[in-house]
Amino acid sequence: MLVDQLGRPLRDLRISVTDRCNLRCTYCMPASVFGPEYAFLPRAELLSFEEIGRLARAFVNLGVRKLRVTGGEPTLRRDLPELIGQLSGIGGVQDVAMTTNGLLLPRMAADLKAAGLDRVTVSIDSLDPEVFGRMNGLGTHPQKVLDGIEAALTAGLGVKINTVVQRGVNDAGLRGLWLALRDLAPVRFIEFMDVGNHNGWNMDSVVPSREVLARLAGDDLHFAPVNPEYRGEVAARHTDGQGHEVGLISSVTAPFCGDCSRARISAVGTLYSCLFASGGTDLRGPMRGKPGGAALDDAGLEALIAGVWRERRDRYSEERGELTAASREARAGKVEMSHIGG
Ligand code: GTP
Ligand code: 5AD
Ligand code: SF4
Ligand code: SF4
Repeated sequence: MLVDQLGRPLRDLRISVTDRCNLRCTYCMPASVFGPEYAFLPRAELLSFEEIGRLARAFVNLGVRKLRVTGGEPTLRRDLPELIGQLSGIGGVQDVAMTTNGLLLPRMAADLKAAGLDRVTVSIDSLDPEVFGRMNGLGTHPQKVLDGIEAALTAGLGVKINTVVQRGVNDAGLRGLWLALRDLAPVRFIEFMDVGNHNGWNMDSVVPSREVLARLAGDDLHFAPVNPEYRGEVAARHTDGQGHEVGLISSVTAPFCGDCSRARISAVGTLYSCLFASGGTDLRGPMRGKPGGAALDDAGLEALIAGVWRERRDRYSEERGELTAASREARAGKVEMSHIGG
């Protein structure tokens, strides 16, 4: 079996299909950086659906069982259901999921489900229109996301909800958000992370998951941990004993690198072995080949990917605690979240 330098298998592939988004979340694509002048990738740079399918098959041959389509915002990629159809048709794939802000789901959920999508993870950070509007950078109303969640449920897709928590920004509304959404889907609270280079992260803005749980609990509400569904599950799940679940994603205070079996491909076909990597391996170039030169065949492509995985040593979230603010800065040039989708 293919394992990396720390003994971790390759199980999970996350594929970014576009670097564009119809929101400008301050912690991901701040409008000050990703403004009207920002040069997004031209279409010819993006992997085609055929190329994505070919890569996905190579990864599945190497052990991947779960595929997740991300962005930017993946629903902005034209004809996305066609790609989902290709991916869900690959033998050996057990799960095809998508991370989305939900805005276009009312239009697309039924087609995505019909194409073979199993589930979506929808991000919503606050139900307060003012707070959410500020966090998403464009004043978009939370009801638009709730409409997307409804559409996904109606279409029969599995749904999880992601909420990034930032101290002093949306932490006052966490309990209200959970109470309002817990009957719809499991909510997962994510500790704000230092991904990318533009979100002004510092430790003071992180609300540790244990504090989130304490804020959700109350006289009438107590939480007990639930056993992980699979090894390496990112969210630590808790139940309130009344049929509702909450997930805590604690990349900062309780890193989960030890079981990390995730590979990520950017929209231009660069393979990243960690969410916090500053460099990756170009797969598109060798796949396309030079004009007049030979392109890599499937066996060569698999060997290239396997070689990267075999050498992998990444464990950034575990190392973060050992880094000083200065040495963290020195690692500038980390890949942007909008390029690999989280
Ligand atoms: P499922 O369990 O398959 O539903 O997926 P998941 O829990 O990995 O869900 P999702 O992709 O929504 O991830 C939730 C969030 O956890 C991401 O948006 C990231 O913020 C964080 N996350 C996911 N994978 C990693 C990882 O490998 N490293 C770190 N540090 N954070 C991660
Ligand atoms: N810290 C934590 N989570 C983040 N996400 C995006 N940027 C960050 C960050 N800096 C989340 C999104 C989405 C998922 C893809 O990652 O809100 O739920
Ligand atoms: Fe878009 Fe998601 Fe980034 Fe927000 S977090 S800007 S919705 S890609
Ligand atoms: Fe995996 Fe890197 Fe996240 Fe650790 S920090 S869990 S190695 S992606």
